[in-house]
Amino acid sequence: MIKVLSNGVQMPLLGLGTFLVQDGSSAYETVKYALEVGYRHIDTAQMYKNEASVGQAIKDAKIPRSEIFITTKQAGHSTIEKMRAQFEESLEKLGTDYVDLYLIHWPNHDKKINQQTWALFEELYEAGKCKAIGVSNFQRHHLLDLYETAKIKPMVNQVELHPGLSQEPLKAFLDQEGIAIESYGPFMKGGIFEGIWGEGLSEIASKYHASIAQVVISWGLQRDVIMIPKSVTKERIEENFNAQYVNLSDEDMKKINELNRGKRVYTDPDNSPWGPYKG
Ligand SMILES: NC(=O)c1ccc[n+]([C@@H]2O[C@H](COP(=O)([O-])OP(=O)(O)OC[C@H]3O[C@@H](n4cnc5c(N)ncnc54)[C@H](OP(=O)(O)O)[C@@H]3O)[C@@H](O)[C@H]2O)c1
Repeated sequence: MIKVLSNGVQMPLLGLGTFLVQDGSSAYETVKYALEVGYRHIDTAQMYKNEASVGQAIKDAKIPRSEIFITTKQAGHSTIEKMRAQFEESLEKLGTDYVDLYLIHWPNHDKKINQQTWALFEELYEAGKCKAIGVSNFQRHHLLDLYETAKIKPMVNQVELHPGLSQEPLKAFLDQEGIAIESYGPFMKGGIFEGIWGEGLSEIASKYHASIAQVVISWGLQRDVIMIPKSVTKERIEENFNAQYVNLSDEDMKKINELNRGKRVYTDPDNSPWGPYKG
């Protein structure tokens, strides 16, 4: 399943997340196994500190580079020189001369800083070093502020999204803007297996002889949301990949949509470690 981004780049709708996958043998074996299973999209970040092992696993898989979609994320806002050097370091660690998608990991509380970082992203994109550029954890107002100086619209916005936080208003806005929405934290830090979510989802899962995790991934894919579940467990890596073969009925999609409670289990982008957004 492919998502065609606004600039025509093709992004596999299902990928592997690697947050908290330790650099070294864990990240290496996880990515290597995922590629064997059939994943062709890997999500990493400078902050995850595992780009070198991710890159080595990709290299050793001997799959043509053009068939693998690699996303990485800018560690944090800084001077242009420092951020440019960090990008080059990512390329080196990943063992590639371009990334498929480069994301601003978090909005800064100061819109001018976001605008300045974005100008560098545009430069890297125009130089062909990123096939697509985007943002992460941006709310509608962060995007509107970015537009004030942007020459290029972000192609992707990666945000917390799961049955407890379906992000319908943000998704409607992004759809209108031609920005693809990508989910992180699809399992709600374990919340999808408990309480109202566990109850509702297990009932649906049993109908399809699927797992709760598969139902959640499939729900995202059927909403045209890019999904990047993380697992270091072989059985789960495979189980999550096979979620693309679970076809939920409209009625069950609706039932899952009704589990939305606007519940965040990750940091609120309006009140991030950089403080409340000032604009
Ligand atoms: N942009 C951002 O700010 C941001 C923030 C957070 C995450 N992300 C990205 O999004 C990806 C996904 O989010 P996440 O890693 O936070 O959380 P997640 O994918 O929702 O959940 C990962 C957890 O679920 C477990 N798990 C995986 N498959 C399972 C299955 N089939 N059944 C039961 N449990 C399962 C994993 O255990 P095992 O690994 O032990 O199998 C792990 O503990 C990240 O890896 C990262 O790439 C981005």
